[in-house]
Amino acid sequence: MRHVTVEVLANVEIMPGVFLLRLDAPEIVEHARSGQFLHVHSGWALDPLLRRPLSLHRIGRERSARVAGTSEIGGGQPSLVFGRPNPGEIEILFARVGRGTTLLAQSMPGDALSVIGPLGNGFSIEPKTRNLLLVAGGLGIAPLVALADEAIRREMTVTLLAGARSKDGILPAGLLPPEVEYVVCTDDGSQGRHGVVTQLVPELLDWADQVFACGPRAMIEALACLRLPTSKTVQVSLEERMACGVGACLGCVTPTRKGLQRVCRDGPVFNLKELQLL
Ligand SMILES: Cc1cc2nc3c(=O)[nH]c(=O)nc-3n(C[C@H](O)[C@H](O)[C@H](O)COP(=O)(O)OP(=O)(O)OC[C@H]3O[C@@H](n4cnc5c(N)ncnc54)[C@H](O)[C@@H]3O)c2cc1C
Ligand code: FES
Repeated sequence: MRHVTVEVLANVEIMPGVFLLRLDAPEIVEHARSGQFLHVHSGWALDPLLRRPLSLHRIGRERSARVAGTSEIGGGQPSLVFGRPNPGEIEILFARVGRGTTLLAQSMPGDALSVIGPLGNGFSIEPKTRNLLLVAGGLGIAPLVALADEAIRREMTVTLLAGARSKDGILPAGLLPPEVEYVVCTDDGSQGRHGVVTQLVPELLDWADQVFACGPRAMIEALACLRLPTSKTVQVSLEERMACGVGACLGCVTPTRKGLQRVCRDGPVFNLKELQLL
């Protein structure tokens, strides 16, 4: 865990109310793994008082040529080219929902941000895994893309199921690693399959060695209700409200079979069968 000041390289509204923020953060990248998060101070002085937890969406490990999977947004200005970030860079994908994220949405290239991270345990790919099934609800896609990058670097196969209320909430395919099989569904049928994302999971269970999920609590509960075979490990990333972010305040605890656990320190990634959800 590091407490560092990082520079904003770009910040672009890529979908209505959803921003892709690129940071120059080599000290974070050095220790980061997918599924971890940053605790970001998004404003000035004491406004807002608390930092906001935001997942590592992409972690720049190797130099990226401008290849497939790289998108220009906003008229092709150099600072607005997104794809795999360059070494030492981090991308954050966030929704503007309240005071903290509204201030973050206003940050401009050259601005300094105070962050603590990387925090939390992160996802873990088992040695025998070849096929990863990722299940995203809304902005829950944010940490799963870093996991997809890692799996592809290790020559694994990734299918990403992404659900949202409507097409406005679906991340453009051009912002994903091109090797990912991307299957979209929307509650209103405006893009991809019609319905909720968890309905697609049973179709791919035989193929998948491991399942990873992130999304609203209702989606995680729906996943638990599918009664997936115990032979499959299902790792889920939880998004509880947080205060300290480092395990000190007990403000983020969730019930598990091992008792109350801190989402910020013991998670945010938990084995689904360990959680007491319903
Ligand atoms: C480990 C972790 C990783 C996260 N990663 C991302 C990410 O990559 N991208 C992203 O957009 N968001 C992510 N979140 C949620 C994000 O932290 C909140 O949206 C943010 O803190 C809201 O701050 P705010 O000041 O803008 O809103 P506030 O004014 O604090 O709240 C505005 C609204 O958002 C709701 N809200 C606040 N925090 C959360 C939360 N943790 N979960 C669900 N609803 C919340 C509030 O109930 C309220 O309705 C993550 C949360 C956690 C715990
Ligand atoms: S936010 Fe303080 S213990 Fe998790």
